[in-house]
Amino acid sequence: MKTVMINELNDTFIHKSLRLRGWVYNIRSIGKIWFLIFRDGTGLLQGVVVKNEASEKAFNLESVLKQEDSIIIEGILKKEKRSVGGYEIAIKEIKIVNQSLIEYPISPKIHGTDFLMSNRHLWIRSKKQNAILKIRHMVSKSIRDFFDSNGFTLIDSPIFTANAVEGTTSLFEVDYFEKSAYLSQSGQLYQEAASSAFGRTYCFGPCFRAEKSKTRKHLTEFWMVEPEMAYVELDENMNWAENLVTYIIKSVLTSCKSELTVLGRDLSKLENIVPPFPRITYHEAVDILLSEGYNFERGNDFGSPDETIIASKFEKPVMIHRWPKEIKPFYMKKDSTNPELALGVDMIAPEGFGEIIGGGQREDDINILEKSISHHDLPIEPFKWFLDLRKYGSVPHSGFGLGLERVVAWICNVKYIRETIPFPRTMGRIEP
Ligand code: 4AD
Ligand code: MG
Repeated sequence: MKTVMINELNDTFIHKSLRLRGWVYNIRSIGKIWFLIFRDGTGLLQGVVVKNEASEKAFNLESVLKQEDSIIIEGILKKEKRSVGGYEIAIKEIKIVNQSLIEYPISPKIHGTDFLMSNRHLWIRSKKQNAILKIRHMVSKSIRDFFDSNGFTLIDSPIFTANAVEGTTSLFEVDYFEKSAYLSQSGQLYQEAASSAFGRTYCFGPCFRAEKSKTRKHLTEFWMVEPEMAYVELDENMNWAENLVTYIIKSVLTSCKSELTVLGRDLSKLENIVPPFPRITYHEAVDILLSEGYNFERGNDFGSPDETIIASKFEKPVMIHRWPKEIKPFYMKKDSTNPELALGVDMIAPEGFGEIIGGGQREDDINILEKSISHHDLPIEPFKWFLDLRKYGSVPHSGFGLGLERVVAWICNVKYIRETIPFPRTMGRIEP
């Protein structure tokens, strides 16, 4: 008898005896027949248990089995159009591997978010959470595929660092022997070194921000992919960002149809995401807010509600470029036609999902960069190595960071990004 997993089932297994190993998802009874909805992590399969067809022992388990008991089932596979996945298994035997002593805490009834988050280690077994995390896997894979097939080298940036990259207010400081170090906010500075060594590089790993804001879009630990490219200026950088996002969406649409269906996602909204994406300047974005009658002070950074209004004018992600330099980090190159502007770009997702990408062209002039570091009140010492990059063969270069959880939230249309990472870390939560 062959042991298979649900996502391996295909028509060649029809009428064959199969063994599957998993857990009880649900049980439904209609007298002389009962149905076992069975899950094995790769999918759901309906089992039908018929008196005199199943063993007597198996048939009598109906009142014994409870949600999430671990079991091994054996039976004959049949085609069944009305069933999830298109198959059904006529069960002959059921072996109990483990039965919980008390009732499984997460039932199909409605639970509060805090309760579910406290039970995250169990919650990830449920259908919707499972679908979200499978899509996350596909987004990660497509990001790697995109860069690997476009001549980029993966160069991992360190997690312990001495540098503040994205401002000093969101740093996690850690004891590092006699010195203090920070958990990385972004791997960018190391990618800048790497891009001069390898041409096109990327890193993809966790980043840490001591965000005191309890918004639905912020985690203290999140994953970011950061490409960096030598000899690339702002416009080409935007092309790369646009192509990456398009590739991710296409991959998920191709490979995760059933997960998107579980989530009830409107596919036409995603199918619409093809280049070119609209590109507007910061000042044009402000004009949109003002023309809509919103109260906004030109020169300020956009808040989440501002982003939603601007994005609502477009069906696709919108790229906002050329920002007031005062609201952007020290490393951004100033616009040669207006030194008050920094050559940064943010990509804002549609449907209120906010900023998914931040990046831009980097300052490559050592004198301007030194001034900028001190203007931002940063200590020069930890940036000595970074300034070396402008001493030895400095070139125009650009890159960006895409927040994995923000993109997954948008694709899945889930409001809270804490559901897009297996074990979220927020201001109020470090367990499970
Ligand atoms: O805009 P950010 O801060 O840009 C950087 O860190 C650059 N150094 C990246 C680069 O150019 N290499 O962050 C980039 C993206 C944001 O657009 C957002 O998607 C995500 O990272 N992000 C967060 N996601 C979840 N929780 C947080 N607290 C986040 N902070 C940023
Ligand atoms: Mg940003």
